[in-house]
Amino acid sequence: MTALLASAVDTLRARAPKARPQVAVVLGSGWGGLAAHVEEPLRVPYADLEGFPHAGVAGHAGEVLLGRIGTRQVAILCGRKHAYEDGDVKAMKVPLLALRELGCEVLVLTNAAGSLDSRMPPGSLMVLNDHINLPQRSPLVGETGADRFVDMVNAYDPGLRATALSVARRGGIEMREGVYLWCLGPQFETVAEIRMFRQLGADAVGMSTVPETILARRAGMKVLAISLMTNMAAGMSEENLSHAHTLAQAGRVTATASQLLADVIKEIAP
Ligand code: HPA
Repeated sequence: MTALLASAVDTLRARAPKARPQVAVVLGSGWGGLAAHVEEPLRVPYADLEGFPHAGVAGHAGEVLLGRIGTRQVAILCGRKHAYEDGDVKAMKVPLLALRELGCEVLVLTNAAGSLDSRMPPGSLMVLNDHINLPQRSPLVGETGADRFVDMVNAYDPGLRATALSVARRGGIEMREGVYLWCLGPQFETVAEIRMFRQLGADAVGMSTVPETILARRAGMKVLAISLMTNMAAGMSEENLSHAHTLAQAGRVTATASQLLADVIKEIAP
């Protein structure tokens, strides 16, 4: 374990000595409402944790929230650092490994994304069944040993995907499965790029999640990821794309999305 990771784990253990988190969660834009579902919440600011991102993006809080959702003990990373901020694809490495070290065997990733499928209009939810790492950047560059050659088949756990889909179905919430394509950003895509991505088999496009999935798979965690569609991708609607628009659209459905996520977490097998 690196010194940064050890320090972060020590601080979390000192602040939350009783916490035994099983499920780690990363909240992206539009998913902040999940915090309201956490019982016995305990907060640790990223600023107090070595190796955690110390500057955020609008819409992200920058703290670890420890507590319980149903009978599941959770550790929620409220706010992520994106690779587009300074080019660092390992930005979430220490936070994710710290939660793994505390006992989390499952990681739930959430994000806001642009939809490439007209059957998923803004406000829709999509469970990732695969991803396309378009930038072909990896948070594992520089690692050594055979374990760095991570198998990415079924990177998004089939059992967790089935749980999420069945919870949505029972709740009367339409949710599809699809492929998420990662763009480095921060600029939105061109119309020609989106046309190409559709031909490549992408259903959604976004600027996060993929490096975190790779880190989590390397650490042996099962991954579930859900996208909240905040817009149709470039050229697919009359809307102009902007971060403010993303946040406004995300805010519209945050309550439904967060309720669904809380219900899914309650059903994740320990
Ligand atoms: N493209 C990339 N990232 C996004 C989008 C988009 O259209 N919407 C929300 N995040």
